[in-house]
Amino acid sequence: MTTSLRRAAATFYSAAQFWLAAAVCGAFAIPNSHAADAAAQHTFAIGTNDFLLDGQRFQIRCGEMHAARMPAEYWRQRLRMAKAMGLNTVCAYLFWNLHEPKPGEFVWTGQADDAEFCRIAQEEGLWVILRPGPYACAEWEMGGTPWWLLKYDDIKFRTRDPRYINAMKSYLKEVGRVLGPLQITHGGPIIMAQVENEYGSIGKDAGYMDDVRNALLDAGFDVPLFACNPPSVMKNGMLTNLFQTANFSGDPAGNFQKLRALQPSGPLMCSEFYPGWFDTWGQPHHLGNTPKYLGDLEYMLSHDASFSIYMAHGGTTFGLWSGCDRPFKPDTSSYDYDAPISEAGWPTPKFFQTRELFAKYLLPGEKLPEVPATNPVVAFAPVTLTETAPVFDNLPAAVPDEIPRNMEAYDQGYGCILYRTQIPAGAAASLEAAAIHDFGYVFLDGKRVGMLDRRDASAKILLPERKAAAQLDILVEPAGRVNFGVEMADRKGLIAPVKLGGEILKGWEIFNLPLDDKMLAGLKFRSSRGNEAQTEIGNRQSAIGNQPAFWRGTFNLEKAGDTFLDLRGWGKGDLWVNGHCLGRYWNIGPTQTAYAPGCWLRAGENEIVILDLPGPQQPEIAGLAKPILDQLRPKLDFLKARRPAVKLNLAATKPVHTGSFAPGADTQDIKFAAPASGQFFCLESLNALDGKPYAAVAELDLLDADGNAISHNGWTIAYVDSEENMSADGAAENAIDGQTANFWHTQWSDASPDHPHRLILNLGKSQAISGFRYVPRQGGAEVTGRIKDYRIYAGDALIQK
Ligand code: GLA
Repeated sequence: MTTSLRRAAATFYSAAQFWLAAAVCGAFAIPNSHAADAAAQHTFAIGTNDFLLDGQRFQIRCGEMHAARMPAEYWRQRLRMAKAMGLNTVCAYLFWNLHEPKPGEFVWTGQADDAEFCRIAQEEGLWVILRPGPYACAEWEMGGTPWWLLKYDDIKFRTRDPRYINAMKSYLKEVGRVLGPLQITHGGPIIMAQVENEYGSIGKDAGYMDDVRNALLDAGFDVPLFACNPPSVMKNGMLTNLFQTANFSGDPAGNFQKLRALQPSGPLMCSEFYPGWFDTWGQPHHLGNTPKYLGDLEYMLSHDASFSIYMAHGGTTFGLWSGCDRPFKPDTSSYDYDAPISEAGWPTPKFFQTRELFAKYLLPGEKLPEVPATNPVVAFAPVTLTETAPVFDNLPAAVPDEIPRNMEAYDQGYGCILYRTQIPAGAAASLEAAAIHDFGYVFLDGKRVGMLDRRDASAKILLPERKAAAQLDILVEPAGRVNFGVEMADRKGLIAPVKLGGEILKGWEIFNLPLDDKMLAGLKFRSSRGNEAQTEIGNRQSAIGNQPAFWRGTFNLEKAGDTFLDLRGWGKGDLWVNGHCLGRYWNIGPTQTAYAPGCWLRAGENEIVILDLPGPQQPEIAGLAKPILDQLRPKLDFLKARRPAVKLNLAATKPVHTGSFAPGADTQDIKFAAPASGQFFCLESLNALDGKPYAAVAELDLLDADGNAISHNGWTIAYVDSEENMSADGAAENAIDGQTANFWHTQWSDASPDHPHRLILNLGKSQAISGFRYVPRQGGAEVTGRIKDYRIYAGDALIQK
């Protein structure tokens, strides 16, 4: 069937007719360019009330797992574990940037062999729901979008910007070539494919969604397509003839009602139901509320609704692929997600509770297989890494440039980048950049003198007096690129101008440090095993002190097995074992170990390389039998004052707006009577709808003069009177990270301070504000913290440092 006919088929139907037609198509298996049609033994369709597999009612019990986040050698074990939990389907994103590292260069092997992952799923009796993108989110580097598109200075992601559209079309065409033959219509396990991902959270252009859908159709996808969104934004950019599914963390009855309001018929599906949540560096480890999770699952099972557990198995974001929550909350490399199947593929208590529950709702002919074995685990005693390769002794040729530019401008996507210039002798003076993306280690003549930190409101430090001209080095370590919102256009490196004492610094040398295999293979290690006395190693270590350096060593194993590398002696950086990059680490936690899969280790000698930028306290590593995912060590943070002490100036300030929020979980847009402006925005809660002392906010967006949401880029929390971070992650940043499933919540575990509560945002620069969008804490009526009466302040002097 030609592309135009397939498009006509796909867009012809209005909502009511949609289901009928899909069933027909399903039943008759539409022929297309992939020659395997004859192989189609099964049909899948979206019926008026149910999904239909071979014409029979099919309740999708799905779980999300990402092939790239599991060692390929373990895909079968993980999929068997998923089947044994009671899933009949797995859902998987494709990450565009993993498959197209360079424009037009595609990778589908190793960790990127998603076709093989689908084949194994089929062999293990699981159907597959594919989420090819082009945008994924998923706490993955830039939401899966390739960095090289950032070379267009003004590209508009997830819009009909032709540069974006053309690039995504060629990518999806390639996806169709590789995964099209694995659709159920061609004998494979793929039953549905998702168009984009939660587009309603960022845009309202149905034309863009139509372009993405057509790109999938043109790529040969003839299984039913669908779009997913949190119900609160589903209508944005909605295509009424594209099947809709809902993402939510609770209150299935309420959320399905909202879905039904927009989609009167068709099966009900929750396409992301969260058993836990992801972790970000410096915030408490997230644990889900298991009784509530099981209760909501049972509700969906008993009400014929389908669902996908996000994540059923989180795994690990290996390499430098971990993303960053907006405005700047870097994600940990561990993606355990408190999922039923743990990071190392172990069945947790939640796994067994879920299995037990599913056993009550099996479809005719379905049987739960035995729970498969887990992979062997090994531990080893601490070993000291004795070889070092200081970064400054391993620099590539310099790239001269008049002013420093972001990393992408030098055609570098990942890794670190060093900016060097010569500065004159002189008195102590402030060194300031327009921005630092993300951590800048500052050296004068090779001696570390300070840090530029994106978590800080300003990229500014005081440089000490220099008796003579000096070499200024700023070694920039990016975290992952923001994976959500307009802030995704997250160019890394030093953002110019860079000024010393107000003077723009010119004449720089740029050193690209991509941390790729080629760079690691070229490192010159100073090896001194054997005869070098411990003291000498000690001297070298102290000599290296807080110098950025690669450390290398070996550990021996009697037999290979999974282990968790204890990184508590180290500072911040990345690590490799036997050439596999296991991810990022940071001693502030909550994660303190790195999962090292046994399939990447061997009996005998194993090599470990660690890049530590601030320098280790103790350069040793041990293998533990269990992970450490929940140990915060804020004292080790180089950003001493996460909440710098400030004095409030509210008493002298007139509120720009006072009001009362409506009860419930719906998003509320508040328009000010008169436009306001300022660098600071304060929400002050006076009391709560439930009369309790708590305040909470899931999401805050500020609206510009035209009523559009203002980018959160450069936003920081200037002040918050109270936030829970002992027993849960109630950090104030949760109110501006774009995720409605998490929230700022005032303290409740170690104290319960009463209203008024104040949250003050620093927007980085003065902004015109015509109103704001408030998303209350999500969930049923029982949740605490929903604010009733409140005041809003805006201005440039709400706080005093
Ligand atoms: C959203 C996205 C997912 C993931 C979750 C949070 O709903 O669709 O990709 O980011 O949030 O883990």
